[in-house]
Amino acid sequence: MLKDILNKIKSGYELRFDELVYIISLKKQDELEILFSKALETKNKLCGNKIYIRGLIELSNLCSKDCYYCGIRKSNKETKRYTIPFDEVIREIEFAYQNKYSSIVLQAGERNDKNFIKLVSEILENINKMTNNKLRVTLSLGEQSDDTYQEWFEKGAHRYLLRAETTNPELYTKIHPLNHSFNNRMKCLYTLKKIGYQLGTGVLIGLPGQTAEDLANDILFYKKIDVDMIGMGPYIPHKNTPLGLDTIKFNRNKALNLGLKMIAATRLSLPDINIAATTALEALSPESGLETGILAGANVFMINLNDYCYKKSYFLYDDKPCTNTNIKLFQQKINERLSRISQRVAYGEYGDSMHYLNKIKPV
Ligand code: 5AD
Repeated sequence: MLKDILNKIKSGYELRFDELVYIISLKKQDELEILFSKALETKNKLCGNKIYIRGLIELSNLCSKDCYYCGIRKSNKETKRYTIPFDEVIREIEFAYQNKYSSIVLQAGERNDKNFIKLVSEILENINKMTNNKLRVTLSLGEQSDDTYQEWFEKGAHRYLLRAETTNPELYTKIHPLNHSFNNRMKCLYTLKKIGYQLGTGVLIGLPGQTAEDLANDILFYKKIDVDMIGMGPYIPHKNTPLGLDTIKFNRNKALNLGLKMIAATRLSLPDINIAATTALEALSPESGLETGILAGANVFMINLNDYCYKKSYFLYDDKPCTNTNIKLFQQKINERLSRISQRVAYGEYGDSMHYLNKIKPV
């Protein structure tokens, strides 16, 4: 059955709902290997054997939201809150630019206050001045007003990543407080698209109560909204969250495999988009999560540019990787790790998704 499905995948064939459910439910190791190698082959064919790198700046861990799964939710009083001063952010951006990352991601807890909106606008203005518009910028700053999204786009942001978290409205309601709106999240995604951002979304994989059918629907949603990039990863409990209280049932290996099956199924469904090998994979499988993600079809990786003092306060989930290693050494290590799986970092390339480039190509 798996081989039949994979044989059908030629350009243009769209995996059906039942086929996606089947793939996501696979358990046998030999079948998983066949699946991952087909996804890797697809990635290599479309994107080459290179991996796009993003410099990640976790700008602030202040958050006005209270998601039941997230370690930086506003009710977690154990987290020391920070916002990186403007000059330090600029230094991180300079580092990324000089080291040919060509693309950065600005991420933070969700904040809608004027000071924050202004801070982001000022950072964007400076990036474009400093780099002569030669650095691609992804924002990952949650739900904002249409005007704010528009303002940041006009100041020079190119891409926006807003995870749906799940596209099942009932499940969404279970993992968020009542004042968090699924409909508003969807509305934001469509607004971002309309404004002209390269659009990224994603889901939490392996949430309590989530089914293979939910995950198959998530992939069909990616298609429907015509995403350019995906950032999704396994759900990992955080001890200071309502959902994380019950960590006993959490099976790291199962969570990792489910995350990898989702990457592979997404690559086979949307061959030309960018898919990140997210930090959560590395948390579940230290020193090899990145490789497993790529070998299952991912083609983007983020390097955290923050100082250790900030990194240790951005714990979205338990065991989030948090090293104090010098970034250059870390980068060197990543280069070596990738070369062992016959891949390389595409330094100096913006790394827009092929999907996006094809869309904007004049006919
Ligand atoms: N496990 C995995 N990912 C998480 N995130 C938040 N909490 C967790 C968790 N416990 C993810 C969410 C959010 C992103 C910034 O981090 O998907 O969108």
